[in-house]
Amino acid sequence: MEYAIIGGTGVYDPKLLENVGTREVETPYGTITVQVGTYRGVEIAFLPRHGKGHSIPPHRINYRANIWGLKALGVRRILATAAVGSLRRELEPGHFVIVDQVLDFTKSRACTFFEGGDEGVVHTDMTEPYCPQLRATLIEVGRKLGFAIHPRGTYVCTEGPRFETPAEIRAFALLGGDVVGMTAVPEVVLARELGLCYATMAMVTNLGAGLSKTPLTQEEVVEIMAANTQRVRELAMETVARLRYASSCQCAHVHAP
Ligand code: HPA
Repeated sequence: MEYAIIGGTGVYDPKLLENVGTREVETPYGTITVQVGTYRGVEIAFLPRHGKGHSIPPHRINYRANIWGLKALGVRRILATAAVGSLRRELEPGHFVIVDQVLDFTKSRACTFFEGGDEGVVHTDMTEPYCPQLRATLIEVGRKLGFAIHPRGTYVCTEGPRFETPAEIRAFALLGGDVVGMTAVPEVVLARELGLCYATMAMVTNLGAGLSKTPLTQEEVVEIMAANTQRVRELAMETVARLRYASSCQCAHVHAP
């Protein structure tokens, strides 16, 4: 099974998949449960990042088990969905951002597979955190589907689970951030460490704190995601269907000399 979709907030079930079954995968970090099905004949694994009923907050997700487990299933290419706040007014609720860079403001997460010891010390190149080929396909497919899609953006990842202060939102924008969320790190890092192709379709659900006149609520995020979930699923599935050619990227060779 070459493809996986990691569903973020609002994307908890693999609705467009057929012949869906469940697989349990044991990893050194714990067991994960993945749904497996087909879309237009392509086998796809589906994993809701926050659990089926959104019970796992961003700082408690077992990112290492998730990424390790998907690789153990044979997955080589992962498309992730994410709800994000916007740091710039032109990135409006309902728009997709195919992020290409990340700023890491997390604090307390297990953030690597490489813990030293016999393995030695490994520093992973993050020049291109997201797979350029997956991103290009997402952008092409999204445009064909007529979606409002921004072809690049810097994802600021906070520790959460609280939302940001307006001062933080202003600071992140000054630093070059475009959108803010709580789950990009360490997911993108771990995928890189294992040489997997990984890309995120970020869906803007709200303006960052202080940019909108009203206080931010999780209900607002969930409501906008619910209104857009079908488009998120369509973009993910159509991109997988379009990807049936060999990789031309360097993602699998990240630790090669
Ligand atoms: N901040 C952090 N995470 C988020 C936001 C936000 O404004 N919206 C959706 N996820």
